[in-house]
Amino acid sequence: MTSEEIRKRFLSFFKERGHAIIPSASLVPENDPTTLFTGSGMQPLLPYLLGEKHPQGTKLADSQKCFRTQDIEEVGDNRHTTFFEMLGNWSLGDYWKEEQIQWFFEFLTKEVKILPEKLWVTCFDGDETLGLSKDTKSAEIWKKLGIPESRIRFYGAKKNWWSRSGVPENMPAGEPGGPDSEVFYEFTQVAHDPKFGAECHPNCDCGRFLEIGNSVFMQYVKKEDGSFELLPKRNVDFGGGLERIAAASNNNNDIFLVNYNYIIKGIERVTKTKYEDNLQAYRIIADHIKAAAFLIGDGVLPSNTDKGYILRRLIRRGVRYSDILGIDKEFLSTLVDFVIEKYKDVYSNLSERAPIIKNEIKKEEEKFRDTLSKGLAVLNKELKAQIVKRGEAVEAQKISLIQGPGNVQISDYRPPNSMVTGRWLFDFYQTFGFPVEMIIEELKSQGYYFSPKEYKRLANEFKEEFEKHKEVSRAGLEKKFKGGLADTSEKTTMLHTTTHLMLAGLRNFLGEHVHQAGSNITPERTRFDFSHPEKVGRDILDKVEKYVNEAISKKCDVIIEQMPKAEAQKKGVEGSFWERYPDMVNVYMVKCEDGTIYSQELCGGPHVKNTKDIKGVFKIVKEEAVSAGVRRVKAVLE
Ligand code: ALA
Repeated sequence: MTSEEIRKRFLSFFKERGHAIIPSASLVPENDPTTLFTGSGMQPLLPYLLGEKHPQGTKLADSQKCFRTQDIEEVGDNRHTTFFEMLGNWSLGDYWKEEQIQWFFEFLTKEVKILPEKLWVTCFDGDETLGLSKDTKSAEIWKKLGIPESRIRFYGAKKNWWSRSGVPENMPAGEPGGPDSEVFYEFTQVAHDPKFGAECHPNCDCGRFLEIGNSVFMQYVKKEDGSFELLPKRNVDFGGGLERIAAASNNNNDIFLVNYNYIIKGIERVTKTKYEDNLQAYRIIADHIKAAAFLIGDGVLPSNTDKGYILRRLIRRGVRYSDILGIDKEFLSTLVDFVIEKYKDVYSNLSERAPIIKNEIKKEEEKFRDTLSKGLAVLNKELKAQIVKRGEAVEAQKISLIQGPGNVQISDYRPPNSMVTGRWLFDFYQTFGFPVEMIIEELKSQGYYFSPKEYKRLANEFKEEFEKHKEVSRAGLEKKFKGGLADTSEKTTMLHTTTHLMLAGLRNFLGEHVHQAGSNITPERTRFDFSHPEKVGRDILDKVEKYVNEAISKKCDVIIEQMPKAEAQKKGVEGSFWERYPDMVNVYMVKCEDGTIYSQELCGGPHVKNTKDIKGVFKIVKEEAVSAGVRRVKAVLE
């Protein structure tokens, strides 16, 4: 069965059993600054699992887009991906273990037609110190369904407890969690590898077993004192990897062959190479291009920080691996068509944003291709020079023969530490655009070994360099910002306050990704740059005008409030350069008598005291592109 078929059947199966089908939430979590991306189906439903009422009832099902950053470097084997879909069904204080386990078993064996003898299950063994009991109930239900005792295993909290922060000890107060029961598919054709332990079992990492579903019985919440209490209602949070279930359904342990064939075929055609001969490169390209398409589809754009940096890493790593396959021209942006085509009916944002997705990938690919081969050449040269300098009894050429930690005694060939420092990594990133993780990957492939401790040290050093660099450019930016206002005349000041209102309006109608990217205000007009990937339609500009003119006509006070930076951030105050500001910040608010806040933004002034001092009608006279992902408007007070 294909993943499309399985998704369809899953949703209708649960619909028939009284569940409301809810759409997938964005990969970019709303109102949750604690994580960069949505990484599980339950994340967007957190408030409801804690007891809030869901508008669509107590039984829900969906297929949720997920992205897991921590898996980027795992991609390359037959089962790890960064992006995947998680099938989910929820009981919010409704049904419990009996229905859940029975339904999932029925779905797997009757709908997907997986042979029951291929299934193993695991249950929670309990934890006396935390007063959490063994989940014999789930085991009993599985037995009743025909799973023999020999295929039911009990594990402790490390394996059979689920919360967003993992095991009970790691959970912060207020976090919900609970024991879970997992289902594994056994690929009997895969022989156990004793490298992973004498005996094979469901949680063994040798690849014989694949987890295909997890029923979390979420009934606890952590208390301040570290103990657990029951949630007001007990919930079921089920999550099953769609692509993994498809692999099981095909009894094929290669997730990529089962689910990414449409991309694999494309890569084969263009590169004239074979998947079988280049597994790692194919899998990395296929995973990264798909993930990149979905991330851009949800509004992420390549940049140097946070989400944008992860996206950049994915695209650039994809370029690097297509280079390994011998491709030196535009490639990823053509592959992305296959992804959009495949998913456009299920995720309409992909087809709606197709031009942006393609264009962003194309630009990023072009940019990196410009420096990739130069960077690699320099890297190789520097490495060789280091080794020769050290007088190693190795011809520089030999370096490229070294495979990695498992195969040779790298310590014999290690380049001296003096070269690989955070500073060097940062300079390399600055000059050639290699994300730091990628430089380290290159070094590893050249035989350089990094212990986890070293890796951490280098990552920290790199971060420090990054911060230092930001400080230097900050000084530059501050100068530029002062220059943002041509003078402090009355007219310029009027337009400055108006510009705040306009930014608030743009964010209101275009979204939270909009931030200031530069401004230049004279007595005649404001010229304002902001982050946004595409043209802004006249209808939106009209709405922004209306928003600003409304604030002007309502004669609102412009007040300055001092508050701690953290508080301002929490309140949703707008600001582009948070790291530039001290711990206490000035927030300029346009606040009306009726309590409406039209704008709240970090700033140093000057501003009018009340919007009645703004003379004229606000008009946006021009909207155009400035550079990748940046738009410019010109506006006046007429
Ligand atoms: N929330 C559970 C998981 O992500 C179902 O595995």
